Amino acid sequence: MPEIFTHPLELPWEGARLIVEVTPSQGVAIIIAIHSTALGPATGGTRIKSYDSLAAAVIDAQRLAEGMTCKFAVAGLKRGGAKAVILAPETWSPELRRATLLRYGSLVQSLGGAFQTGPDVGSTPEDMDVIGETGSPFVFGKTLEAGGAGDSGPYTAAGVAEAMQAACGKVFGTENLSGRRVLVQGTGAVGSHLIALLREAGADVWATDVNQEKLHSVIEKYHIRTVHPDKIFENQYDVFSPCALGGILTVEAVKKISCKIIAGGANNQLAEPAVMQALGRKGIWYIPDFAVNIGGALAIPGIELEKWSIDEAYNKVRQTVRQTLETLFRLAPEGTPDFESIARKLAKENLNQSQIQLI
Ligand code: PHE
Repeated sequence: MPEIFTHPLELPWEGARLIVEVTPSQGVAIIIAIHSTALGPATGGTRIKSYDSLAAAVIDAQRLAEGMTCKFAVAGLKRGGAKAVILAPETWSPELRRATLLRYGSLVQSLGGAFQTGPDVGSTPEDMDVIGETGSPFVFGKTLEAGGAGDSGPYTAAGVAEAMQAACGKVFGTENLSGRRVLVQGTGAVGSHLIALLREAGADVWATDVNQEKLHSVIEKYHIRTVHPDKIFENQYDVFSPCALGGILTVEAVKKISCKIIAGGANNQLAEPAVMQALGRKGIWYIPDFAVNIGGALAIPGIELEKWSIDEAYNKVRQTVRQTLETLFRLAPEGTPDFESIARKLAKENLNQSQIQLI
């Protein structure tokens, strides 16, 4: 049996339901973590990725699912939080990948709508088409050709840009991003679209990515400057925007960061709660990821289920992020506020409120 499946699972979790289907002979596992259905159907993307252990994949799914609950709750939306992780082998044949996606779709289907999904790190609208073959109608973000709303990245990016403007307004006294030095970490589905928006707004954009190919394609397209992933904190920035994988903000990293605002699209940016104090000590405004990156999860189901136009979807994303941040700014004490705690409290209140209504 591959080593990844032999690690013990010790998983205290406050979520509602955890489904783990393991196929050790293929090195594949499907994990669906339903954190909460208190506000509505549990919704979250499908992450396709390799992990060092099954436990690491399950923990990732659980933490990401909790983040989705906070994301919908803080914005006052009627959805619950969930996430699926497909633990992939380092390399797999197109046949095994397709078979896994179809099996996963059946699992989604068997949950009867309690779990609804869309694209996430490592998955594309084309993958949603395949998953949808067995998982419809609970699979969002299929390709336009297949009748879906397509890529969710541009909507998430629009919300992040809106958040940056709102935060700059508060910190610098102007929302105008022209000339602002912004570092975008990750030039994938969200980062590349964010860079386009920031360039349009005249920002001085710097980008970094461990994937040199992706990085080069954005440099050529948007004429931005780049910085090596190991050297990102050697420069000073106005805004740092994490748009790659989670856990980037460690206490050690924060010691090195020189910026005024952090606002990005990545999920679970804080490696541990102690990071908030480290950010506070440096006077950095950390805008919680889950208050900022709702765009895809709001727009894609909205376009597909509510028949929003593209313009309407962008407007809803911007309005939603704006409203959430205005609430956080209003509730925050003077100084460098702990927006993370304020946002979590607000999300919890919205969740509790729904439970009172249900009774
Ligand atoms: N990847 C999205 C997120 O983390 C999840 C999502 C996208 C859900 C599109 C539904 C539709 O928020």
